[in-house]
Amino acid sequence: MEEVKKRVLSMLQPTGTFTLGNYFGAIKNFIPLQDEYECVYAMADLHAITVRQEPAALRQNVMKSYALTLACGIDLEKSILFLQSQVHEHAELAWILNCYTQFGELSRMTQFKDKSAKHADNVNAGLFTYPVLMAADILLYQADYVPIGADQKQHLELTRNIAERFNTLYSPTFKVPDPLIPKTGARIMSLQEPTKKMSKSDPNVNSFVSLLDDTDTVIRKFKRAVTDSEACVRFAEGKDGINNLMGIYSCATGKTYEEIEKEFEGKGYGDFKLAVGEVVADTLKPIQEKYNQIITDKAYLEACFADNAMKAERIARKTVSKVMKKVGYIINK
Ligand code: TYM
Repeated sequence: MEEVKKRVLSMLQPTGTFTLGNYFGAIKNFIPLQDEYECVYAMADLHAITVRQEPAALRQNVMKSYALTLACGIDLEKSILFLQSQVHEHAELAWILNCYTQFGELSRMTQFKDKSAKHADNVNAGLFTYPVLMAADILLYQADYVPIGADQKQHLELTRNIAERFNTLYSPTFKVPDPLIPKTGARIMSLQEPTKKMSKSDPNVNSFVSLLDDTDTVIRKFKRAVTDSEACVRFAEGKDGINNLMGIYSCATGKTYEEIEKEFEGKGYGDFKLAVGEVVADTLKPIQEKYNQIITDKAYLEACFADNAMKAERIARKTVSKVMKKVGYIINK
């Protein structure tokens, strides 16, 4: 009998560039999972419009993000990588699940609170119900595992609650998924304000490293990273800047904090920052080379979109049909 592989699902918002946070918190961890599981990944472009997007820029950003995700090592022979807006089941299931999610639950989502404070002029209903769409994304594919950074943990917990509620009200319908959150890299912080997470929407470009930053830019950004006055490379409470740089160095080299402390014993922050910058730049170089090849081939990308949307829809449709029957809708034969 053929072994049924467990399924992994994760998505990324294609709004601008990906940061080192997206890479170490999520994308890098997608790659090895491809050998063991059936992996479904996507660009969450429906989520993207909860914040106002310029249409031409959105189109470009989706193309670039898709190409960059491929360049990071997603293999379309093994995995599915599609555009969320091309599989209408996401919007369909999100509506149904909206009716099984409480206003109070959504009000407690910290990302909603943060984003509505940040975009006070556009606190739209989509921003509020965003976690329900994310639950639909995951439950549609009956995912066993969801690789994410720490900031998405609360949304995953809500997803589990919605799934369990629906399963209890009707009968087992959805797989209840588990998060996969990396030990290091789950929360890469801003290089300028190391108590805040690194974010591509930060207006200060020195606060984040983009996967497309060239070597000089990467090294300059790390040189300017905020640290402390102790001048000793060690992991400790209150040393947010150094802790963050040690986390990044550990993700890029595989070294433990102890090994890093030993390596930089007696050395200053200048040497350490340069070493972090160099190893990150070396990590990004092969990704950028691959990206530059892929992004020029629009016909290839468009063919990938079509093929992968079809593959994703085949899985998603099954779940929506099952849900519609359970809810009591009449389905034409
Ligand atoms: P998004 O687009 O903000 O981020 C994509 C992935 O990157 C992780 N991440 C980070 N990890 C570590 N440090 C950081 N500074 C950092 N910043 C971002 C995120 O945790 C995420 O894993 N709502 C999601 C997208 C989404 C999704 C889904 C994810 C939509 N549907 C279904 C999983 C399953 C989001 O906005 O991620």
